[in-house]
Amino acid sequence: MEKKNIDWSNIGFGYIQSDYRYVSNYKDGAWDEGTITTDANIVLNECAGVLQYAQTVFEGLKAYTTEDGRIVTFRPDLNAERLESSAKRLEMPVFPKERFVDAITQLVAANEASVPPYGSGATLYIRPYIFGTNPVIGVKPADEYQFRAFVTPVGPYFKGGVKPLTICVSDFDRAAPHGTGNIKAGLNYAMSLHAIVTAHANGFDENMYLDPATRTKVEETGGANFLFVTKGGKVVTPKSDSILPSITRRSLVYVAQHYLGLEVEEREVLFTEMEDMAECGLCGTAAVISPVGKIVDHGREICLPSGMTEMGPITKKLYDTLTGIQMGRIEAPEGWIHVIR
Ligand code: PLP
Ligand code: COI
Repeated sequence: MEKKNIDWSNIGFGYIQSDYRYVSNYKDGAWDEGTITTDANIVLNECAGVLQYAQTVFEGLKAYTTEDGRIVTFRPDLNAERLESSAKRLEMPVFPKERFVDAITQLVAANEASVPPYGSGATLYIRPYIFGTNPVIGVKPADEYQFRAFVTPVGPYFKGGVKPLTICVSDFDRAAPHGTGNIKAGLNYAMSLHAIVTAHANGFDENMYLDPATRTKVEETGGANFLFVTKGGKVVTPKSDSILPSITRRSLVYVAQHYLGLEVEEREVLFTEMEDMAECGLCGTAAVISPVGKIVDHGREICLPSGMTEMGPITKKLYDTLTGIQMGRIEAPEGWIHVIR
């Protein structure tokens, strides 16, 4: 298979149109059989539910070329399950798990030319989503939907690759108590746009969101969960009902415990504890684990002992083990690797 003529090692996290996408439409209470198509454009009624009331949920996962030349995805069953809980929360029909995994399999296989080669530093980002398509003007769920998934080759989410980031405590909230912070809905990202543009304008790479009710506990960033390492070598990650249950974070917790023999605590994390942390990482499909070197709270700087030049030692071990599993260099736990071909 001849690969696309792309400078794989120098791409960022952007959209590069690929040849094929998967589409299935929902009408009269059922999904059609779905198909791979070449048309990257969608024609919608001006009053479509997604356009008026943001009825859309999505997922993000990646395909990798392994050391031995296979093409695989990482835990797609968990993305299917999370898409199900997102869809239910926004009163949308569920796209069944087996169909989700089959759609991703067909999609990645069709786009083999766009799957970055092993060792290039790039991966294939997969974006499945569901949105309301029929006209809706009174506030209510749509009756018709589209499930669509496309792919785009991507490099690192943060410019500079693994250089430690500087983040700031946001004055905005990304989620409300009992709101939609724990699902992957487009609306959560729309409301974070002003906050991220403001953070960038002030010279920061990302926002640290605190819990909206008390503003004393650490939640997550706009696109990743937090993992901390305490000065005592313990891995700590925030537990909250208003953060997205990251598949990367859940996998890293397992890796920390079962591959690295580390103690892990998933619990509420107070902002005042930041002074006790030795390392901090942002974890997610796009972010993988991106190290944080500095946290700024309204001018007060908290400099992590891991510094601003490289990843902390435990973050690095977590990163190497997780990416080793994804790229086939390290044996994966049962069921984590879904082979496309
Ligand atoms: N938190 C938010 C708000 C996200 O958008 C993402 C990205 O999907 C994550 C966390 C990380 O989740 P995952 O590891 O499943 O990609
Ligand atoms: C992902 O990591 O898949 C996400 O959806 C995060 C997004 C900010 C790109």
